Amino acid sequence: MSEEKIYAVDPAFAANAHIDAEKYAAMYEQSVNEPEAFWGEQGKRLDWFKPYTKVKNTTFDPHNVSIKWFEDGTLNASYNCLDRHLETRGDQVAIIWEGDDPSEDQKITYRDLHERVCRFANVLKAQGVEKGDVVTLYLPMIPEAAVAMLACARIGAVHSIVFGGFSPEALAARIEGANSKLVVTSNYSLRGGKAVPLKANVDKALTHAGAKKSCEKVIVVKRVDKETEWDDARDVWYDEAVAAASTDCPVEEMEAEAPLFILYTSGSTGAPKGLKHTTGGYMVYASMSHEYVFDYHDGDIYWCTADVGWVTGHSYIVYGPLANGATTLMFEGVPSYPDNSRFGRVIEKHKVNQFYTAPTAIRALMQQGEDVLGDSDLSTLKLLGSVGEPINPEAWEWYNRVIGKGKCPIVDTWWQTETGGIMIVPLPGATAAKPGSASMPFFGVQPALVDNEGNEIEGAAEGNLVIKDSWPGQSRSIWGDHERFTNTYFSSFKGYYTTGDGARRDADGYYWITGRVDDVINVSGHRMGTAEVESALVAHEAVAEAAVVGYPHDLKGQGIYVYVTLQAGFEPTDELMKELRNWVRSEIGPIASPDLIQFAPGMPKTRSGKIMRRILRKIAEDDFGALGDTSTLADPSVVDELIEHRMNRK
Ligand code: WTA
Repeated sequence: MSEEKIYAVDPAFAANAHIDAEKYAAMYEQSVNEPEAFWGEQGKRLDWFKPYTKVKNTTFDPHNVSIKWFEDGTLNASYNCLDRHLETRGDQVAIIWEGDDPSEDQKITYRDLHERVCRFANVLKAQGVEKGDVVTLYLPMIPEAAVAMLACARIGAVHSIVFGGFSPEALAARIEGANSKLVVTSNYSLRGGKAVPLKANVDKALTHAGAKKSCEKVIVVKRVDKETEWDDARDVWYDEAVAAASTDCPVEEMEAEAPLFILYTSGSTGAPKGLKHTTGGYMVYASMSHEYVFDYHDGDIYWCTADVGWVTGHSYIVYGPLANGATTLMFEGVPSYPDNSRFGRVIEKHKVNQFYTAPTAIRALMQQGEDVLGDSDLSTLKLLGSVGEPINPEAWEWYNRVIGKGKCPIVDTWWQTETGGIMIVPLPGATAAKPGSASMPFFGVQPALVDNEGNEIEGAAEGNLVIKDSWPGQSRSIWGDHERFTNTYFSSFKGYYTTGDGARRDADGYYWITGRVDDVINVSGHRMGTAEVESALVAHEAVAEAAVVGYPHDLKGQGIYVYVTLQAGFEPTDELMKELRNWVRSEIGPIASPDLIQFAPGMPKTRSGKIMRRILRKIAEDDFGALGDTSTLADPSVVDELIEHRMNRK
């Protein structure tokens, strides 16, 4: 461990940063010892209609999990992102939008954005959306996505964004699960020059009885000038509706604990869960963490490459930056279009100061060589960020050298959909970086490691990563299922929030995330429940049984390895393999597409019939020398057969 590289804080950076090591230590201490005082003060970064008098009222007791912050205050998220900035920065650019095609862009000022949001909020109201209703957004990375989010927030509606890469089936389940009244989509999305028919997916989703029953209207942005199937009774063109709408829309006064959004994410069992985030605590946490983690200063141009379909897009493209009056860049396209230098071209074109992306994107660039960004001028960059999965030290070094030119701190941000905001991170100006380590807790965050029995482990050690007490950004519940929320996050280790990740803590107290300890895999920074992929597979007529595991993948971090036992009468052919791959894509979406499929005449099972995933994982990793004890298997010979026909050979 002494060989670990350490990158000290650059004193010149620290001198101009919001915090330095000393301030971090003092603030952190107060944040955990006097959370009421600390967050009571931080809460003032927002504008409240009715100020709060209570700050923290939370318990992780599994009999009664209850999380409330600023509970007697009232506010509006849209007001905090827009209205309050109009006087001081109405003409400042709020969103720089960079289209898929490099010749297309928009600069939207706070005043423009406010007007667009007011108009669309009025459209939602005219379509019957009321406070508390759920609106599903199935949109590409176009300004209308941010407008729709803020319009919902403005009138107290709850948005539920479904990533545009999800299939009609996945979309239908989420519309039904949230009992969503209205869907906002676009006729097509544009990525890498290709038009993807989003509206057609919505049409298909709404053929499912449950989704059809709850959803009454579909508002459609015309992104591509192409023929679009239309249902006059149900579908409304976005442009026509907003053109007719008033620009005056008063904000709804919301309680701090009123829901702001639902976001579905995968877990180890069952269908994806709709995590509920509320208004006050979430906004305070998103705003504070955006400012400190990215060392955002007035006038900076900040770019997060995530999609608004994921939590990163919620907190660090829209809510955090806009609450702070920042200029946030929204990118519609992909890093490889028109060519691999695109990220560099965008950084140069818009003079980006903070750049926040995912390790999978960094590795993809890295593969193209050091001159991948061509002659792009990257000199405006001051800071780089990483999110979604552990960043391997090689990728970290490359990011630092080739993109950051050795002068930008890298913030490796560990967090989750459930946490609402960044939890563990080397704060720039304060914390020396160790490549590959997410390092130290953010304010108010008390990480701990526990063994499998729930005993806390001290000092340098490895264990299950848990959090000891509440922080304001935390999810409050699973939509409509508080019991599942309690069971998933608060019952394995009593008194703690269970993250589902494993971590190692080194002698300096730095945290190193080792990956999921449950049956969730992380593919290109996207969370995927192996059970979800399995249930999609067994829904195919040829499949008798399926087991899905992750395996190390050079680009994606983890790849999806599928073992399939066929029904009698089906032959294991290349064609069937292809069909199964397409099947999963259509059931869940392209992000769930299996990388490797192995036809397995039998699965390694215990005598009680439980599939031993540990063995399947090892074989998928091509590491079968370390299979461990297989004597408890009902039929140990299955293992030899699996090894012989394994699909991953290093
Ligand atoms: C993983 C994304 C290591 C982790 C914001 C977590 C990370 C899951 C990091 C959450 C990181 C995210 N280092 N692992 N910097 N960031 N993860 O909900 O396993 O899409 O539990 O939220 O991604 O994924 P989610």
